[in-house]
Amino acid sequence: MQVILRQLGDCNIRRAEPSDLISVMEINLKTLPEHYSDYFYESLLAEFPEAFIVAEIGGKHVGYIMCKTEYGFSNFKKLGFVKKGHVVSIAVLDEYRKKGIGRALVEESVNGVKLRKCDEFYLEVRCSNNEAVRLYEKLGFVIRQQLNAYYRDGEDAYLMAIELD
Ligand code: ACO
Ligand code: ZN
Repeated sequence: MQVILRQLGDCNIRRAEPSDLISVMEINLKTLPEHYSDYFYESLLAEFPEAFIVAEIGGKHVGYIMCKTEYGFSNFKKLGFVKKGHVVSIAVLDEYRKKGIGRALVEESVNGVKLRKCDEFYLEVRCSNNEAVRLYEKLGFVIRQQLNAYYRDGEDAYLMAIELD
């Protein structure tokens, strides 16, 4: 059964299903240099469906976000060991950007992460990716670290995180 989380005009923001994964992989291939195996997409959907979300307009997939949960050292507290949500990847097709779809995907994934009682939510983003950094900052994420040569091409990442209540 499809779980529609919200509608933005004619765009449905809903939880992903196995039949969405091919389209999600296609969006990923078009929009980002970091790609993953089919199995990885399937396992993220199986393990954390509450935060694997797609945006769809008239049957066409235009965006996705997918996440995982982990236990690890807090990005905020000294010495804290916490449960964390982790944005693995988010993208919106170029032609559909700047309409609030990216924001809706992140906000709905935050809700999914809260359902799993995570203490924090974090992600890595290229330091040059101003669009994405600005979006995350608007939603309350803050830069907590710069990760040296995080990407294959040598670019640094910002680790951005938010504390959840
Ligand atoms: N009219 C005009 N502008 C609008 C409207 C509107 N109706 N709604 C939102 N906007 C503006 C926002 O205010 C924001 O502007 P700002 O950046 O100047 O503050 C801007 O549009 C973007 O916000 P959204 O529309 O919510 O986001 P968008 O759908 O464009 O998606 C994303 C952002 C996902 C980063 C997109 O640019 C993208 O797919 N980029 C390529 C892939 C990528 O870089 N992904 C992130 C990698 S990091 C990671 O995956 C963890
Ligand atoms: Zn990551």
